Amino acid sequence: MQTFNFKACAAAVLLPLFSHAAAADDAAPVRIGFMLPATGTYAALGNMIENGFKLYVAEQGGRLGGRTIHYFKVDDESDPSKATENVNKLVKRDQVDVLVGSVHSGVALAMAKVARETNTLLIVPNAGAEAITGAMCAKNIFRTSFTNWQPAFAMGKVAAERGHKKAITITWNYAAGNESAKGFADGFEKSGGKVEKAMNVPFPSVEFQALLTEIAAQKPDAVYAFFAGGGAVKFVKDYVAAGLNKTIPLYGPGFLTDGTLDAQGAAAQGIYTTLHYADNLNTPRDNAFRLAFVKAYKSNADVYAVQGYDAAQLLAAGLKAAGGDLTKRPQMIDAMEKTRIDSPRGSYRMSASHNPVQDIYLRQVRGNVNEVRGTAIKALADPGLGCKM
Ligand code: BEZ
Repeated sequence: MQTFNFKACAAAVLLPLFSHAAAADDAAPVRIGFMLPATGTYAALGNMIENGFKLYVAEQGGRLGGRTIHYFKVDDESDPSKATENVNKLVKRDQVDVLVGSVHSGVALAMAKVARETNTLLIVPNAGAEAITGAMCAKNIFRTSFTNWQPAFAMGKVAAERGHKKAITITWNYAAGNESAKGFADGFEKSGGKVEKAMNVPFPSVEFQALLTEIAAQKPDAVYAFFAGGGAVKFVKDYVAAGLNKTIPLYGPGFLTDGTLDAQGAAAQGIYTTLHYADNLNTPRDNAFRLAFVKAYKSNADVYAVQGYDAAQLLAAGLKAAGGDLTKRPQMIDAMEKTRIDSPRGSYRMSASHNPVQDIYLRQVRGNVNEVRGTAIKALADPGLGCKM
């Protein structure tokens, strides 16, 4: 008669688990390369992304997939002309396993090129350049933020539904601004409006006066503006100082008023924007996140913090599936493609081109809060044009 050897059986089952855990413990830390702006008009955005990422890691006890995390950092200055050199500092000099960045679309496009050439895993926690998850899409490139088209298209639709017929767009002249203006025109014109003029200033100029004078002369029904960070603070204040807010409502993607309200003060009151986040979603998930964030950093979370937090969540899903083993890239990618991110913004999944399929909220500024006024478009996916994976 065969006897059941409990000890041997338990050892057979448990040993691989323990040795696996021990292997993960012994393994060198995962090397994360943050390429974010620490100076210039987008500096605050970079800081929020980094803090959001680190908060999620801290909540997991400092480990993802059983592995400790080591951070490397480069200040990209939101300068595309330095981006290739900067990203190579992380990839070649620091030998990072994962790149996280950036805020500026032009910088992130250069990062995506290097990530494709070197097959480095890249998670984009802000920059919305459409090509990153469009023509340049790749198995090793993910984004936890948006495409420039997503919030812009939703705002175009909302502005037309609010009865506006003629609009002017004003942006910084680079990929994000131009794609945002185009996305707005797309939504606005599909719903019966007409964009009469697309204005721009070079990035990161804040010399808006001449264009504000021209807007006053043209008298559109509405203005749509893409600016963010320090530039958004200056633009919103200048718009009010020129008296334009009295007759021509100002709209924008949520970047126009996110993370900027303390500095914009009275000038931002009442502005409607569209974004995949708002300050008072009031869900248990978001409330817990906001509480943890304010405790850790003594400042309120914003959309950039959420995107950084989600970048860490996405990486955690991949590392967990691979048992912390970065050489198991196919398992990692597969899990990152399939996971639903339990985001403070509301849970979402990735599109086939690795960009969030997400609700876009309509928000309005009250005090220092971007208050949610409804959902402009549910589960909006970027068209991901040109992506062939
Ligand atoms: C961008 O360059 O893609 C970007 C920068 C700031 C806010 C939103 C988008």
